[in-house]
Amino acid sequence: MSWKHMFARKDLEMLLAEMAGEHRLHRVLGPVALTSLGVGCIVGAGIFVLTGVAAADMAGPSIIVSFAVAGLACALAALCYAEFASLAPVAGSVYTYTYTTLGEILAWIIGWDIILEYSMGCAAVASVWGNYFNELLIALNKLLDEWFGGALTWQLPVIHPKFRTDPFTLLKDSTEHGMVNLPAFFVIVAICAVLVLGIRESARTNALLVIVKVSVVLFVVLIGLAFIQPANWNAIPVTERILPQERVMPKLIKKDLREADPTLSKEELDRRTAELQKRLRASYRVEWAAAEARRLREEGRLTPKEAEGLTAEVRKKYAADLPVTEAQRAAVERLLPQVHQAGENEETAHWGLLGNLGLNRWLLPLDDATRTPFTPYGISGLMLGASIVFFAFIGFDSISTHSEEARKPQRDVPIGIITSLVVCTLLYIAVSAVITGMVPYPQIDVHAPIAAAFTERAEAENSLVLKISGALIAAGGLAGMTSVLLVLFLSLARVFMAMARDGLLPKVFGKVHHRFHTPHVATMIAGGVIALVSALTPIRELAEMVNIGTLMAFSMVCAAVLILRIQRPQVKRPFRCPALFLVAPAGIVVNVILMLFLPIESWLRLSIWLVVGMVIYFAYSRRHSRLTQHLLHEIQTPRSDEPEPAC
Ligand code: ALA
Repeated sequence: MSWKHMFARKDLEMLLAEMAGEHRLHRVLGPVALTSLGVGCIVGAGIFVLTGVAAADMAGPSIIVSFAVAGLACALAALCYAEFASLAPVAGSVYTYTYTTLGEILAWIIGWDIILEYSMGCAAVASVWGNYFNELLIALNKLLDEWFGGALTWQLPVIHPKFRTDPFTLLKDSTEHGMVNLPAFFVIVAICAVLVLGIRESARTNALLVIVKVSVVLFVVLIGLAFIQPANWNAIPVTERILPQERVMPKLIKKDLREADPTLSKEELDRRTAELQKRLRASYRVEWAAAEARRLREEGRLTPKEAEGLTAEVRKKYAADLPVTEAQRAAVERLLPQVHQAGENEETAHWGLLGNLGLNRWLLPLDDATRTPFTPYGISGLMLGASIVFFAFIGFDSISTHSEEARKPQRDVPIGIITSLVVCTLLYIAVSAVITGMVPYPQIDVHAPIAAAFTERAEAENSLVLKISGALIAAGGLAGMTSVLLVLFLSLARVFMAMARDGLLPKVFGKVHHRFHTPHVATMIAGGVIALVSALTPIRELAEMVNIGTLMAFSMVCAAVLILRIQRPQVKRPFRCPALFLVAPAGIVVNVILMLFLPIESWLRLSIWLVVGMVIYFAYSRRHSRLTQHLLHEIQTPRSDEPEPAC
């Protein structure tokens, strides 16, 4: 076995010959079902949960542009995916395509990367699914209360936070940890059962969920349009943005209070934290405004009068919140240096890997120069927002894992990929415009941005439509996340199956059920692992890993399609990516730039994941690879004729 075998490519004829075997899936999906699978996998936790944190803390109203940037990164990759998918109509997604172009070892790396994307994507979505389920129960209880005038003697049982939080995460506004995320566990088990039953049933369940969630998203956009105040987009002063130092305050205050008195009850701790946070924030804001005014004046961007005005305005705004008692003054004095230090670290982390590389020195002036009420966090805020909301687009690539089940894969898979991506990008831009237009961005609820925007408005307007919106949006969010789980999971099992067929994973992963025609063993094994991971693991950091893994996969796809076009221009391509020599390099650049905005921890975790993958490859896959065995066999039995060129 030589190094050459590690770069051996599988030829297209070999792929198609495998398709003729008995272990093939049913070809039942048309263009509508494929697009519905795409939308099913795209619209979920990203838009229903991440929009809030990305708008409030990262991009402000320019989150609308962040969505467009993330959509562009995906669109460039999608065009390349579409060309690739039309070439090789078999299961396995980009893993299979890479096997035919760049060789086995790179195919393994990308397959391993996709396993990370789909499995951790599933775990991340499942972990917030329980919160939305709980929101739905709470919203229904409120509605029942309203309809029956408080006469009902029972309520729907809500889930205690301990049983919807993993054991490593602190409960919201509490000093206690969770125990187990039961909804995450059970939703994965249920999805697993649906998937084992068959692709037709799964496609139907998915179509229903897609209808519910798209209707809710359209409801949000249409009703929300009436409540947009353009001033929220273009008139909030940039000084109102959330500062990194303000984000670290609650943690530092709690630590300080607990050190001073470890016997404080939870309620007392929360009360004192809130009070001290108000004082600390006011003191910090006054200090910050003075320093900011001085800096901007020295840089010639404010006149002395404007600088004076800025300081006076902020001092006046926060005068009533400044420390009053001696104890408050002492605590603020003690905490301010810590706030500065932790805030600085937080600020560096804000630029992701670029901050760790020391590039923030150049990015800060760039941010200052591009700060406007629409882009309060500057250009890097906009890009950081894009690298986070990128999660909302993950999944369109999963359509290509279903090529084997498509009736006309070469035509319908490109249609499915491109249509679902365009539809979702437009929906996302509309929703983010509505949310940032309805609520001033510093006040957007970071846990449930869409639901909260409507609930607050419902109270202010006393409108029935808005009142039922809480329950409707929670139901839409739940449907959205459920269909994301369904399709991501479905795709994961198919990637396992493709890798097992090639001998890179144990055969058992490739088994197809004789009656349901689904890869039941791969589905059940993956389900067991994901259910446990999502029930017991703090998933937030792992979710960031999903983005970095996917961005890497997209860059590799763009490179692979380009290489294939140069190496084998004559191969028939039912779908040709337009202007590929521009699109593919642009795709690589945009995806890599977004990766650079992700935190260094994500880079480290991705590296660890890839190292583990390499260990498995050299310990197992390389020795069991069917292609290697085939090549070794050919060497041992020399033929007079030359082999056909790959593809
Ligand atoms: N795009 C999927 C979501 O937002 C992963 O939930």
